Amino acid sequence: MLKVKNLTKKFGELEAVSNVSFEVKERECLGIIGPNGAGKTTLFNVISGFMKPTSGRVEFLGMNITGKKPHELVRLGLTRTFQIIRVFKNMTVLENFLAITEREEEFIKEMGLWGKRDYLAKDLPQGDLRRLNIGMGLATNPKMLLLDEPFSGLSPKEGAELGAVIKRLKEKGMTMIIIEHKLKELFDHVERVLVLNYGRLLCEGAPEEVVNDAKVVEAYLGVGYEGA
Ligand SMILES: Nc1ncnc2c1ncn2[C@@H]1O[C@H](COP(=O)(O)OP(=O)(O)OP(=O)(O)O)[C@@H](O)[C@H]1O
Ligand SMILES: [Mg+2]
Repeated sequence: MLKVKNLTKKFGELEAVSNVSFEVKERECLGIIGPNGAGKTTLFNVISGFMKPTSGRVEFLGMNITGKKPHELVRLGLTRTFQIIRVFKNMTVLENFLAITEREEEFIKEMGLWGKRDYLAKDLPQGDLRRLNIGMGLATNPKMLLLDEPFSGLSPKEGAELGAVIKRLKEKGMTMIIIEHKLKELFDHVERVLVLNYGRLLCEGAPEEVVNDAKVVEAYLGVGYEGA
């Protein structure tokens, strides 16, 4: 479904993403982990059209999408959410959805927000806000969803609620890539994990394989298993 080939993104001398190649199959849920500054968000920025790559190629559904703009990619079915939440803060949950879809009830219920549909987004706790953000991404009818640290800043209870949402999306056949530092939460959902370090693909494999990989343990040394 997605093919990333020899992708490189430089910021001046810094290679934030360095010759990264991987593929994602339909219905797969792929995890991306790696220390702070490893290039994970930059990789999403390039794949989702928010930044142009320095070199390399991205294919989605057999099309070359390298350098296409975010709104063009959303139209093709490739949608991402941000590490920093982007919603209309002074609008209610309902108004946020009404601004982008006619199927607002379906999406609000799917995110478990129906009881809070009249709350202003700015008054929502972090967990609800995160699901609002993901729901708004879903309202674009994506074929593939890119989630950047969806579990960050959530309490265990909020994390469990989000986990249930992700599980339902998987059951419905959504293809996803999830960047996450919270490995325990991530590993509940992904079959395969990529590890980035200094922009490079350090290793790739099943969750239990990568956490026992000596290269990965070394990259995370001082950060700890749970990440930052
Ligand atoms: N717009 C930019 N201009 C210059 N340098 C940038 C830019 N965006 C990111 N970088 C640098 O590129 C590197 C990778 O950053 P990136 O945000 O992709 O890392 P990350 O893996 O997402 O980290 P984190 O886990 O902290 O979110 C870092 O050294 C960062 O400082
Ligand atoms: Mg990041």
